[in-house]
Amino acid sequence: MPKTPVFREEPVSFVRRSGRMSEAQDRAFGDLAPQYLLNVPRGLASTSVHADARLNPAAEYGRDAPLFVEIGSGQGHAIISAATSRPGDDFLAIEVFRAGLARTMLDADKAGVRNLRLIEANAPEVLASYLPEGAAAEVWIFFPDPWHKTRHTKRRLVRAGFGDTAARALEDGGLLRLATDWEDYALQMREVLDAEPNFERAFDGEWAERFEGRIMTAFERKGIAKGRDIRDLVYRRKSRA
Ligand SMILES: C[S@@+](CC[C@H](N)C(=O)[O-])C[C@H]1O[C@@H](n2cnc3c(N)ncnc32)[C@H](O)[C@@H]1O
Repeated sequence: MPKTPVFREEPVSFVRRSGRMSEAQDRAFGDLAPQYLLNVPRGLASTSVHADARLNPAAEYGRDAPLFVEIGSGQGHAIISAATSRPGDDFLAIEVFRAGLARTMLDADKAGVRNLRLIEANAPEVLASYLPEGAAAEVWIFFPDPWHKTRHTKRRLVRAGFGDTAARALEDGGLLRLATDWEDYALQMREVLDAEPNFERAFDGEWAERFEGRIMTAFERKGIAKGRDIRDLVYRRKSRA
């Protein structure tokens, strides 16, 4: 008889830190979660998504609008800024860092943001099954954890196979936007995505222009302060036809 798996088969790109939540963070999860945080059916782990669960974006956001998805949204600065300045679009932040999710909810509430939802889950699982196929207009990954030690690079989010997962969630012509301050990760992203049959480069030359829709976060500032080059990449999802 096949054994029921107990752990995920693939390494995940994060380590969950347990830590006490502040009062404000507790309040965010108590009071604001019903409005912002999607109640995702789980599979094996607390950050997993049940393989049979599906989001209905039109029902969730109460309308049909282009959906922009950010993976690893951290404190939520970039996505809140985008959601505030683009009320005609819908936004989805995927993050496993609870304090970051709390901060995002508190700031979204303060700014009166209505076109944003959050998911506390391992992002590849959201792209692989929870979002309906072709639901996302764009997927953003800004300053993903670099996992720069050689023995850890297998944990990187953008590794062989990720292109398939992202391509499933993106609509035809949809964009995958990435940014990193780690040169060898930038090279890995480009190598992985150049080899992906469902994507084509949407930039000329070595690297893409800085994405003007991305506001400066602490991670980018730190990279610059350390003298690192910031690399942007953007790939277009090819047509399914
Ligand atoms: C280095 S931080 C960058 C945060 C933000 N994008 C910024 O630029 O400020 C990377 C974030 O990705 C989140 N993360 C890493 N792997 C993830 C995964 N598989 N699913 C969801 N979030 C993930 C981490 O919890 C962390 O908050």
